Amino acid sequence: MEILHYPVLHDSVLEYLALSTDEDAVMIDCTTGEGGHSNLFLSRFPRLCVIGIDRDEEIQKKAIERLSVYPGRFKAVNAWFDDYLRSAESESADRILFDLGISIFHYEESQRGFSFRKDEPLDMRLDKNASLSAADIVNSYSEEELASIIYRYGEERYSRRIARAFVEHREKSPIRTSKEAEDIIFHAVPKEYRYGRISPATRTFQALRIEVNKELDRIKPSLLEAIRVLKRGGRIGVITFHSLEDRIVKWTFKDEAEKENPEIRIITKKPVVPSEAEERVNAPSRSAKLRVVEKL
Ligand SMILES: C[S@@+](CC[C@H](N)C(=O)[O-])C[C@H]1O[C@@H](n2cnc3c(N)ncnc32)[C@H](O)[C@@H]1O
Repeated sequence: MEILHYPVLHDSVLEYLALSTDEDAVMIDCTTGEGGHSNLFLSRFPRLCVIGIDRDEEIQKKAIERLSVYPGRFKAVNAWFDDYLRSAESESADRILFDLGISIFHYEESQRGFSFRKDEPLDMRLDKNASLSAADIVNSYSEEELASIIYRYGEERYSRRIARAFVEHREKSPIRTSKEAEDIIFHAVPKEYRYGRISPATRTFQALRIEVNKELDRIKPSLLEAIRVLKRGGRIGVITFHSLEDRIVKWTFKDEAEKENPEIRIITKKPVVPSEAEERVNAPSRSAKLRVVEKL
């Protein structure tokens, strides 16, 4: 089994969410992925048990195999983290970690069209049983709806032109693959935008992924539930990768910390970001931000 994903901000996460080495503790890793962060914590804190959530069964199998070296200390749960937290017992966890988004595995191995560099079915579902794929969205949403999600979830300034191009293409034949979608976007945007710092498809692909998996809608309810599920003195850490996610985390924590009888205090006044050295060895960490709160 090849591990593709390197845990982002690993030193900072370990520092801010550190535990005692001689007391029993429970951590909920809401986004286990290949188990990178879970592995760090299980190896560092011998009396810790981790409940590892992931909606994606395939990547979860990798985590289960990887973490089998800690018998009885890792329990995998296949669920959306918001659903899991809603049903979890109050004050039952010492640490709760979210490392939002998707993993290198999804781009490189999943064959679900997350990457516009590959020619794969345009799927993007983390939950194989979900009804809506990215292809369903580009082939069935109205032009206005498409423009709106590409603008809101991708912050793409050419959202209208891209939506128009999708609709024109599907009138002739359905859009089926990631390469087809990339090609449509490439030709929809002005020439000078085609060869910029990032591919012109980056933002639209992000938007489709967010819409398919309802990624942003899940964050605030999950953070509020996580506060309830956390023990007093426990900590929540959230790693985000773009401003849309970070804004939700920042304001949810701020609102909760500034309530009349607050349940939490903010530990990281400013988000923690990777060092230059980490950015050099782990390029995907470049946009990462960690925010941490503690339950009072
Ligand atoms: C960035 S990766 C986590 C990487 C992991 N921390 C590591 O170091 O290996 C995020 C993972 O969370 C999962 N995921 C994303 N949103 C989710 C949600 N709302 N509920 C459950 N799992 C989710 C994805 O399938 C992916 O495997």
